[in-house]
Amino acid sequence: MLGSTMRLALTVAAWAGAAAAQETADDPLHPRSHFRVEHPAEVQGAQAEEVYERLLPNMTAGYRLSDLAVARDYVRWRRFNATPYLSATHGSRYVNNYANGVARDYGADVPPGGLPVGSVLVKDAFTVTEDGMVFSGPLAVMEKMPAGFDKAARNWKYVQIMPDGSLFGETGGENDAGMRFCVECHALAGDEADHLYFVPPQHRN
Ligand code: HEC
Repeated sequence: MLGSTMRLALTVAAWAGAAAAQETADDPLHPRSHFRVEHPAEVQGAQAEEVYERLLPNMTAGYRLSDLAVARDYVRWRRFNATPYLSATHGSRYVNNYANGVARDYGADVPPGGLPVGSVLVKDAFTVTEDGMVFSGPLAVMEKMPAGFDKAARNWKYVQIMPDGSLFGETGGENDAGMRFCVECHALAGDEADHLYFVPPQHRN
């Protein structure tokens, strides 16, 4: 049996692979929602926030092509991180974590039974390449479904929307197999945490 560190390493590799496939799928003749920053190595904190604010209208316009309500709504929800931070597990992208009103306990202690049905957590993402090009990344969503949806996944439905609004997959639906790596890695966070990893402490607001 694989140790959890090994499993984590494998799922990270799967995630990076999916990211590479997505980035090469971008049509270079029709660049979507990207621009260049002068000093890519310095993009953090307030700088990362500036890049994010500049990108956001394009980014959300892309997600909205999915026609999913969450893609339209999430920017009005509470954001649980102060400024975009680099996430190694989410494809070495800059990410932000949002939660809807039902999931308001996301930032504090999760209740013993987990977050309530109807909780929706959203992580948007962008990439800054070594030469300073900025691209939207995928939108990752977790939605708490009613009991019976997927007990092993603590009834979380995982959804991934690509920067152009296309659906990469959702557990229990399209491309379920391609979405299992989400469940596997999040399960390692444990039942007590309701399979959640939370914003790293130094990036919380
Ligand atoms: C290799 C492990 C790993 C994989 C694979 C993974 N995640 Fe995560 N996820 C994390 C970690 C760690 C965090 C919190 C810290 C961060 O942002 O890096 C997180 C945070 C999240 C959050 C915010 C809720 C929380 O747990 O705090 C959502 C939503 C999310 N991931 C969705 C997804 C979806 C959808 C997929 C699959 C497309 C996925 N994740 C794949 C590790 C992973």
